[in-house]
Amino acid sequence: MTKWDAPFRLIWENRSVPHLVSIFSFGRTHTSVTLNPIPSRHNLQMKRTSAACPPILKTTGKRSWRRRRTRGPGSAVEQRRSQILERKKATEELIRKAVAVKDHLALFSDFHKYQRNGLSVYLESGRGHQLALPMRKYIQNLLKVNMEEPYGAEWPSEEKVKRREMVVPEARYIFVKQYSNGFITENSMKEGTEVEHMHAACSESCLLGFVHYRFVVEEELPVLYVYELQMEPSAQGKGLGKFMMQLIEQMACKNQMGAVMLTVQKANTQAMAFYTKLRYVISSTSPSRVDPQIGLEKSYEILCKAFDSEAKSKLEDGDY
Ligand SMILES: CC(C)(COP(=O)(O)OP(=O)(O)OC[C@H]1O[C@@H](n2cnc3c(N)ncnc32)[C@H](O)[C@@H]1OP(=O)(O)O)[C@@H](O)C(=O)NCCC(=O)NCCS
Repeated sequence: MTKWDAPFRLIWENRSVPHLVSIFSFGRTHTSVTLNPIPSRHNLQMKRTSAACPPILKTTGKRSWRRRRTRGPGSAVEQRRSQILERKKATEELIRKAVAVKDHLALFSDFHKYQRNGLSVYLESGRGHQLALPMRKYIQNLLKVNMEEPYGAEWPSEEKVKRREMVVPEARYIFVKQYSNGFITENSMKEGTEVEHMHAACSESCLLGFVHYRFVVEEELPVLYVYELQMEPSAQGKGLGKFMMQLIEQMACKNQMGAVMLTVQKANTQAMAFYTKLRYVISSTSPSRVDPQIGLEKSYEILCKAFDSEAKSKLEDGDY
């Protein structure tokens, strides 16, 4: 099958289940389902390739129609190919630069502390492969407390996937930590007070939540993907989630990512309402938008917020 034989190609990547490939045919169109070996981000995308013939160029003069040169150096195909390669290189370079930053949080001093709604916390960054055992246990426990219910029967397998993906070097974290026992309270803390020296006193016991994010390529665009946003039940509804997402969006923009993306279980109606409030929309790459039938079978949606016109067009509007 050449690329001209396939006017419509549906590529479905379910990253939780690697290496499985199947192909469906609908008359002259083909739908291929590929499952990407990168673990656990769900991605579903429909690509349209133009049908059949190479383009014909209309010219003036005696020979009114002439076949355009379509192969070889300088041809339209070759130019298009080199444009695509350049864009791919530029995207990879942006990801490489973002990944090379040691501490993204350090660049956003407005987000180092949060003192509102009875909370007095500070943020701290971390990396997946540097998490100490107590921290890994903390993350696993909070995930179970918050996510077992929305995942339902899928939880046991999803939990295994999450345990694997939480400790890899690409996994970046921002932790929410409480100032330790009464040393600094909301009342005693003054705006701008230097409290960094207190941070060492806080261990896993005073964690209130975390966000796990990565810089990845989706639909050939660089994006910041939120793998997890988890707050302790006692810390929910106090503005912390919004604060964390504002930080995430600023980090995405600073690193020239086209969008922030994330996956939400449909059963997690609270999280859906939260992200809707923050103006996230169901991405055109989400199963329900690629194919409503497949969407019905899937328990999740992919949400996004785009920051430039190309990302908006590809990830929100679904223009290919
Ligand atoms: C979802 C979660 C991250 C939201 O964080 P949060 O700190 O509780 O939310 P916030 O207090 O920052 O809420 C921000 C805004 O969203 C709104 N919001 C939050 N939850 C809402 C809900 N269930 N329904 C409607 N609006 C909601 C708030 O009213 C607030 O609006 P405002 O800015 O006008 O005041 C948090 O509740 C959580 O950790 N839940 C469990 C884990 C989870 O589901 N994570 C998401 C997985 S994808």
